[in-house]
Amino acid sequence: MIDPAPSDAPDRDFSDTFTDLDPSAPALTVGELSTQRGDGIFESIGVVDGHPQEVEPHLSRLAHSAHLCDLPAPQPEQWRQAIAAAAKACGPGESVIKLILSRGVEHGPTPTAWVTAAGVADFARVRTEGVALVTLDRGYASDVPARAPWLLLGAKTLSYAVNMAAIREAKRRGADDAVFVTSDGYILEAPTASIILRRGDEFVTPAPSGGILQGTTQMSVFDHLEAQGFRTAYETLPVSALTEADNAWLVSSVRLAAPIRAIDGVPVAVDTGFTVALNEYLLSPRD
Ligand SMILES: Cc1ncc(COP(=O)(O)O)c(C=O)c1O
Repeated sequence: MIDPAPSDAPDRDFSDTFTDLDPSAPALTVGELSTQRGDGIFESIGVVDGHPQEVEPHLSRLAHSAHLCDLPAPQPEQWRQAIAAAAKACGPGESVIKLILSRGVEHGPTPTAWVTAAGVADFARVRTEGVALVTLDRGYASDVPARAPWLLLGAKTLSYAVNMAAIREAKRRGADDAVFVTSDGYILEAPTASIILRRGDEFVTPAPSGGILQGTTQMSVFDHLEAQGFRTAYETLPVSALTEADNAWLVSSVRLAAPIRAIDGVPVAVDTGFTVALNEYLLSPRD
């Protein structure tokens, strides 16, 4: 658990604000708004051989989500140190560190914050064989993020019940995962990943202003591709762009790059060599 410091507290050794807990023992009170209302925010950070990946982009997004949700801004150095402490508990191979900032106990004085470290599933197969997706209507038009900011569409909130329901629906339809689309026919994101499309030497992803999370993995992949001389772009992409692309991937911090092999039953070409190289890059230490 973390006793959250005010965002303007001077940087110092924050270890006296951390309490180690037994993960199998009770830790939250029943009045917690994270569990009662999903009222809080989180981040999932990939860890490779004890190295937490892309810590600063995750902390920036945590701060952005806090701002959108009217939660107190995190003190970045405190969270950096909490991540470093959690990383020490990770063994070799791949793990995940989760950061959680909840609104706390109803009428309580402060938010509740904690960090967890855990092992992850083996994603080797999905990274090579890829995923079949179905498009699912997200139920709103592309102008909604600007018209209704209280929907918190760019925030990574704890309210993931809809995202999990979409994955179950995709499985009911015989696919592995979903890609959300707006009711007026534009591509958004997958329930737990960003989407990247390849068109020749150009890689495109939906613009984050469209009410999706800006993916830390997508940003890292774009930097990597630009360094290799490829063009990258953020665009408003119609659903038809999915099957017109040369190749496509879901990218996220823990599963990394999963090639898309079909969309709504239409095959999409998988570039195995390119995907292997992309995942090698994503598994290399990244700050
Ligand atoms: C809805 C959604 N979009 C995109 C992403 C990808 O973000 P990142 O690359 O930072 O993991 C996630 C990750 O969990 C997500 O839940």
